[in-house]
Amino acid sequence: MDGEAAVGEALAAEARGAETEPASIAWASSFAADAPRIHTPIPGPASLELLARRNRHEFGDFPWIDMLPLSFAGGAGVTLEDMDGNRLIDLTHGHMSAALGHGNPEVAEAIDVQARKLMNTRNYPTEARIELMERLAQITPGDLNLFGFFSSGTEATEAALRVARTITGGHEFLSFYGDYHGKTVGAMATGEGGTPNTGPRSSGHMTVPGGWCHRCEFKLEPSSCGLHCVDFAERAMLVNSHGRLAGIIAEPVTNGSGGRVYAPGFLKGLRDICDRHNIVLIFDEHATGLGRTGKWWAGDHEGVIPDIIIFSKFLGNGYPITSIAVSERFTAEANRSSQSSTHGGQPAACAAALAVLNILQRDKLVDHVARAGEACLNFLKGLAARHPIVGVAQGRGFLIGLEFIDPKTGAASAQMASKVAVETIRRGVVVSPVGPTMRVSPMLVTSEAVALRTLGIVEEAIADVESRL
Ligand SMILES: Cc1ncc(COP(=O)(O)O)c(C=O)c1O
Repeated sequence: MDGEAAVGEALAAEARGAETEPASIAWASSFAADAPRIHTPIPGPASLELLARRNRHEFGDFPWIDMLPLSFAGGAGVTLEDMDGNRLIDLTHGHMSAALGHGNPEVAEAIDVQARKLMNTRNYPTEARIELMERLAQITPGDLNLFGFFSSGTEATEAALRVARTITGGHEFLSFYGDYHGKTVGAMATGEGGTPNTGPRSSGHMTVPGGWCHRCEFKLEPSSCGLHCVDFAERAMLVNSHGRLAGIIAEPVTNGSGGRVYAPGFLKGLRDICDRHNIVLIFDEHATGLGRTGKWWAGDHEGVIPDIIIFSKFLGNGYPITSIAVSERFTAEANRSSQSSTHGGQPAACAAALAVLNILQRDKLVDHVARAGEACLNFLKGLAARHPIVGVAQGRGFLIGLEFIDPKTGAASAQMASKVAVETIRRGVVVSPVGPTMRVSPMLVTSEAVALRTLGIVEEAIADVESRL
């Protein structure tokens, strides 16, 4: 089925499904009924006017704004409204943080009630903070029942590195190509986040290829490689170590590099390396945690339990709160690892997170994502087979993306991804390209029918770009 046929079929399915979906999906997806609805050029005049004011005062490059400037006035459920009144379907939702919908009334109400009661008491116990820990302990795997709260992903990454250092007395970490863990100095040393201006990677950090078979860095075949990437990772770690190893940090499914899923056995291989050398395994589940991949934790797909998990972009549905969960085996060390943050876990953020957990559990959104995510990935795989500029469709659940290539050489092409992204946004679907990949990750409250219809619009944009090559 091509993009246009998918759109037609999905519209009919949407009409049939609207009454039977769980409350959060029915609410959020209902706003897509008349979206996309585009009545000005994108960007329109009001978007450009706000952008000019922005350019006067805000510094720092933001590639998506440079690619196609848009300014937003509001959002409802799975949609965004730009300054010119165009309504777009949102496949990025604040870098995948507003996963339960813009303007979610249950989350907004929880924040409002709590903010009127108590603003901030730093790390002192509050009912909301403690209840959140108790609820999370029911969800986290194994004995990962010790928590800390922060306001951003990168702070939680730093916290994980601190705990691992305290546990091991070491400071050397192994991480993987294509991973991203944040933009503070320690976090940047663990991924591909640096620029010529950010200075050298902190010493003690090593980055090696992960087990991503589509473009195997060792040019090996999955059927015969015997997971050479795991052996290489261990060997590189030992060769580069000066005897102060602390841990391995990995995204179990990658976000920044467009939803790379590692070879079966790769994550287990990392667990084994950590066990062999008495070091700490950290999974960065900022993008994947709390059900985005169709299980509560991406590590669950492989049955691998790390020592530390850091999560999650949408714990507060866009209200800033992130968390670290540490194994109880390390209670003494975690207690000494200096965890505090002025805004981390402030009461209204915890209230937002409790509302998010209530909705996730009440509406069984993790099961929904597993089912609908599979349908979406199948559609994307068909799309990859039909279109020569698509290299691969990848991901899990609602963390899905496409890699674009130059059809003549087969080389990964950031330029092609950017062209497709621009055409997709002009059609009223907001997507985020990163290098040669483009994430097309729906909110967790997107119905399968709306998600498939939206991906059909992505296919129309791809066909348009191809027709002009
Ligand atoms: C997997 C992952 N870890 C960490 C981060 C950093 O989060 P933040 O931007 O909130 O610092 C990100 C952000 O994109 C991410 O995708």
